[in-house]
Amino acid sequence: MSVMAMRMDQAVEALRAAGEPTRLRILALLRREELAVLEICRVLDQSQPRVSRHLKLLAEAGLVERFPDGAWVFYRLGLEGQARELVGELLARVDMDDPVLARDAGRLESVRAERAAEAGAYFARNAAAWDEIRSLYVSETDVEAAIRAAAGPGPYRRLVDLGTGSGRMLSLLGPHAQAAIGLDLSQQMLNIARSRVSEVGLEACELRHGDIFATRLPAQTADLVVVHQVLHYLGDPAAAVREAARLVADGGRLLIVDFAPHKHEFLREQHQHRRLGFADADIERWLKDAGLGRVKAAALPPADAAGLTVKIWTAQRGREARRNAA
Ligand SMILES: C[S@@+](CC[C@H](N)C(=O)[O-])C[C@H]1O[C@@H](n2cnc3c(N)ncnc32)[C@H](O)[C@@H]1O
Repeated sequence: MSVMAMRMDQAVEALRAAGEPTRLRILALLRREELAVLEICRVLDQSQPRVSRHLKLLAEAGLVERFPDGAWVFYRLGLEGQARELVGELLARVDMDDPVLARDAGRLESVRAERAAEAGAYFARNAAAWDEIRSLYVSETDVEAAIRAAAGPGPYRRLVDLGTGSGRMLSLLGPHAQAAIGLDLSQQMLNIARSRVSEVGLEACELRHGDIFATRLPAQTADLVVVHQVLHYLGDPAAAVREAARLVADGGRLLIVDFAPHKHEFLREQHQHRRLGFADADIERWLKDAGLGRVKAAALPPADAAGLTVKIWTAQRGREARRNAA
């Protein structure tokens, strides 16, 4: 791989920014996933003003990128360019078993585990009422009609619904699929989905306990993969998109349904949302990085201005994408 040359002053600034223990620890953490400032403080066990000073320096040198999301501020590694390459090369040479970095990784695991436990408890508590909670936000009929349109006419040979929850997407799209799998981390949610799927009379439909980050489903075997209102709960949405994309067969489609960026902080406080919606540019980049093409975004604005805009991002793999692009 050819390495692009950096201007000397940029290289010095980048190396200065990275050349300090706390800042190197931050870079090593952000290589694992994007993190909110408070989470970085918890892992490093340092005060927010101190951590923010380090983050500012890293951002000024182009090594990390700051992105506000409602009242929270997240950081991730700089997206591209020479500074990104430099960080990659630098971290590849650092021993991740170093006791300080290993302790940080352990603390990050605890932060993740807490996050997952809180979300799991929320879904367990709300499993039965989930459909009702969902309908508070948006006009379900319009969203479902748009999802049907984005999914294409079918029939689908194999439908995979990741984070299936109460199985609504399975009952909507399953009748047009020869085989369907709904996967979810919450057993309570899966129980609701089981009853719903049998009420609808879906026969070739399997409900599986599993994690969207490691589905253990075979690569490139589904002609329709759906991730409906799941990404905003996740610590590493880009990794979930990668795993979802991995499942899409040649000619198949991935549908991601979530919110446009918004400011409803109560969803974070009361409903375990981690991200307050997603920008088109982020989702499109994740889809393209995951090898899918022909990305389209549709927006369904709310009935009243205070509501939430639902977005449907559709991407395709290979054959169909090439045909449509022609
Ligand atoms: C808001 S519900 C949406 C459910 C369904 N897609 C719908 O729209 O009705 C989010 C679902 O994602 C599931 N979930 C959260 N994190 C997950 C993970 N890491 N792997 C699989 N499912 C997950 C939750 O258990 C929950 O059922």
